[in-house]
Amino acid sequence: MKNLGLGIAIAGSGSATPTQVLSNDDLSRIVDTSDEWISSRTGIKNRRIASNEESLADLAARAGQNAIAAAGLAADDIDLIILATSTSDDLFGTAARVQHLIGATQAAAFDLTAACSGFVFGLVTASQFIYTGAYRNILLIGADILSRWVDWNDRATCILFGDGAGAVVLQASDRDRLLGFALSSDGSQNQELNLAYQAQPNPLTDNITTSTGGYQAITMNGREVYRFAVAKVPDIISKALFRANLEASAIDWLLLHQANQRILDAVASRLDIPSEKTISNLANYGNTSAASIPIALDEAVRSGKIKPGDTIAASGFGAGLTWGAAIFQWGKE
Ligand code: COA
Repeated sequence: MKNLGLGIAIAGSGSATPTQVLSNDDLSRIVDTSDEWISSRTGIKNRRIASNEESLADLAARAGQNAIAAAGLAADDIDLIILATSTSDDLFGTAARVQHLIGATQAAAFDLTAACSGFVFGLVTASQFIYTGAYRNILLIGADILSRWVDWNDRATCILFGDGAGAVVLQASDRDRLLGFALSSDGSQNQELNLAYQAQPNPLTDNITTSTGGYQAITMNGREVYRFAVAKVPDIISKALFRANLEASAIDWLLLHQANQRILDAVASRLDIPSEKTISNLANYGNTSAASIPIALDEAVRSGKIKPGDTIAASGFGAGLTWGAAIFQWGKE
């Protein structure tokens, strides 16, 4: 609903990743795998891993500060911070801690959880506050430290994930550059990929029992998740393109959640988008969940690949299951 004639510009990007690098060869010393298997099945070579001293709030704040600087703003220009994450430092939320670290004294802040779709869900959520006229400058951060929740003995999952943070600043603007979007969820397939609480009964009194469990490591049915992504992502991008009144040929860049090179290639091919237009950095970072789209966006902007005015089709997909797409033009010029 764009009832005040307000539009959105995505005015700046930033990212931050941990310094520790875990290679496929390193992994082959931990589990029974090989560089050849991982590279050919996923396209991943290295991933960044947060150390025991690095918090999600630190990574998110660094990415956020870089995005605010790139947008030419100061921290106290920010009205709202949305932190898309599934790996909060604190179950009560990490966004307020990020607000403090950044010094965004005027900003309200909250966490949003939609796993690997978190950045796209966050982009659409942030845009609603601008369309209603409630806020003018919103910092959206996607950040995850999945390495905390990986079973490092499970070769089917531990090879896929890495840590990092990416961010963008959304600004109110005369012209709307968010051209179309679509979001979707299917909880009936939740069991295919999750990081679930496992209840342990704790009898308090004769007739009252509480639960004092913990979170189990990431569990995934790789083949089903692969099938889901290849089937649903082209459909939701087509839906968002339809709403934007655009053909796939109008896209300058296909910016997918960086899960697996084979998924990126299959989606591009279904949409008939040539590989030169597909942004891929997962060889260096693996799957960084909510951070993957904004890290890839930030790298492509800083390297001069993505230019102001370019049309980007972004799509996130993952646990929930959730998936979504947003078609937007980069920059505020
Ligand atoms: N190294 C070596 N062998 C491995 C391995 C590893 N890291 N992981 C699994 N294998 C083995 C399996 O045990 C199996 O062996 P078997 O045939 O003797 O039983 C064989 O490789 C094939 O396993 P399978 O699970 O069928 O492989 P796959 O081709 O489906 O590839 C994934 C596995 C995980 C790479 C793939 O399913 C995938 O990418 N799925 C999507 C996951 C994803 O993106 N999740 C996040 C979404 S946000």
